[in-house]
Amino acid sequence: MPSQPEQWNAVDEYFADVFVGSDRALEAALRASEAAGLPAIQVTPNQGKLLHLFARMIGARNVLEVGTLGGYSTIWLARALPEDGRVITLEIDAKHAAVARANFERAGVAGKIDLKLGAALDILPSLQGPFDLAFIDADKQNNPDYFNWALKLSRPGGVIIIDNVVRDGSVLEAGSNDPTIVGVRKVNEMTGSEQRVSATAIQMVGAKGWDGFSLALVVS
Ligand code: SAH
Ligand code: DHB
Ligand code: MG
Repeated sequence: MPSQPEQWNAVDEYFADVFVGSDRALEAALRASEAAGLPAIQVTPNQGKLLHLFARMIGARNVLEVGTLGGYSTIWLARALPEDGRVITLEIDAKHAAVARANFERAGVAGKIDLKLGAALDILPSLQGPFDLAFIDADKQNNPDYFNWALKLSRPGGVIIIDNVVRDGSVLEAGSNDPTIVGVRKVNEMTGSEQRVSATAIQMVGAKGWDGFSLALVVS
């Protein structure tokens, strides 16, 4: 039976119902982000839960996120951490940061999150690792630099996750001059050939269309 995007969405929603359920803080964060006019490009509920589970699976205490938006993924990650755990999340846009900070307060996780406002590449050199998990989800043309920083700041056994590595299949456009496609392809090649990590990538269909993420385990 051929499948259709509407069915992919329906299955994604069904999984969100069954595995995530209703969550007041996360739903309030989405409503506040939408009301403030932020683009709805946060991870889906199912992907947010997956990030949360990855963090718990490795017993993460220190998480780095590049690209906060309204803090939806940040809340999922913060909830995975012990009381003294921290997410450092980097955001260039002051309006996004203000919405995110209010969302963190409402969700009761503000104490676990350190949002740093500025261009990620300006802030990353000042950060103190090691991080257990890094989630890279900002401007895609800088993905190669973000990956290098995440690797430098990760502990062995840590995990680096890069969002949006499929982008409706545009990742296959080898000759593209689009800086986002160039950045995504370059970081995939770097991640795949880097001897200090073991990695794979997963494509997904669902509420946010056709996209995916890569996951790299830092082995040394
Ligand atoms: N991780 C979020 C979505 C992030 S969207 C979630 O899933 O909920 C990407 C964010 O990266 C946007 O808010 C954008 O303003 C931010 N961004 C773009 N360029 C950046 C840069 N150079 N430094 C830091 N943040 C950046
Ligand atoms: C875009 C960015 C994202 O991080 C995402 O998950 C989806 C879309 C974007 O810039 O269009
Ligand atoms: Mg993303």
